[in-house]
Amino acid sequence: MKVGFYQFRPLFGRPKHNCKKILTALENIDADLVVLPELALSGYYFKDKNESLKYAEDPDKSFHLDRMVELANKRNLHLIIGFAEKRINECYNSAALIGPHGIEHIYRKTHLFNEEKFCFDPGDTPFIVNDIKGVKIGIMICFDWAFPEVTRVLALQGAQVICQPANLVLSFCQQTMLARCIENKVFAITANRYGMDKRPHGTLKFTGKSQIVAPGGKLLHRAASQRDELFITEINPREAESKMLTQHNDVFADRRPELYSLLTNKN
Ligand code: ACM
Repeated sequence: MKVGFYQFRPLFGRPKHNCKKILTALENIDADLVVLPELALSGYYFKDKNESLKYAEDPDKSFHLDRMVELANKRNLHLIIGFAEKRINECYNSAALIGPHGIEHIYRKTHLFNEEKFCFDPGDTPFIVNDIKGVKIGIMICFDWAFPEVTRVLALQGAQVICQPANLVLSFCQQTMLARCIENKVFAITANRYGMDKRPHGTLKFTGKSQIVAPGGKLLHRAASQRDELFITEINPREAESKMLTQHNDVFADRRPELYSLLTNKN
């Protein structure tokens, strides 16, 4: 399976420009699955929910997402793209899984980061696994990295490749994802953005360094911090089937969930 990411610098509030940038970069691509950053069409640093709603897309009538479907159709591939999702008065920080015939799944970010709490509604979609050409794909978005339960719940459902659109501002995620791939024996593709969102209420700088990690935590590739990069590589998703960490340790079979009840009990 040929998988990869496109790291770029979306411009705030310029969806047409950002959409065109993606279409141009991927116009001749040969891949099965490409992951794009979080909020790749709109930019990231909204002031409040009124502003995020203004730039959000209704997936049922989105010019820009329709262009992504066209691209997926023309190149016979799947894309995962982060976008602001408008549903009447609700606004979610979402990721769409787009195939040659349309949107196949939408995941809404569960764990909102910092001021995102003033701009988005918390995600309400369950963690599920999607099938692409017989390969099981799980989706999480950026700050979900800080909650190891997310990768675990996806991996327990058979996810072989975790796809993570991201707009990272802290420096911890890239290294942390190595651990997620060791403890779950999965692949992970982190598609981050770079550049800055300079807004009247502040400036955020994003860290780039998009990456692909193999089961066992091997870093297959990490992009530069502040540069465009389209990276595609061949992986064997079956490498994610074995959960053996040592000869006598299966990281799934060895779990002791009867001792973990605090994890699912809020109080
Ligand atoms: C983030 O979740 N965008 C940091």
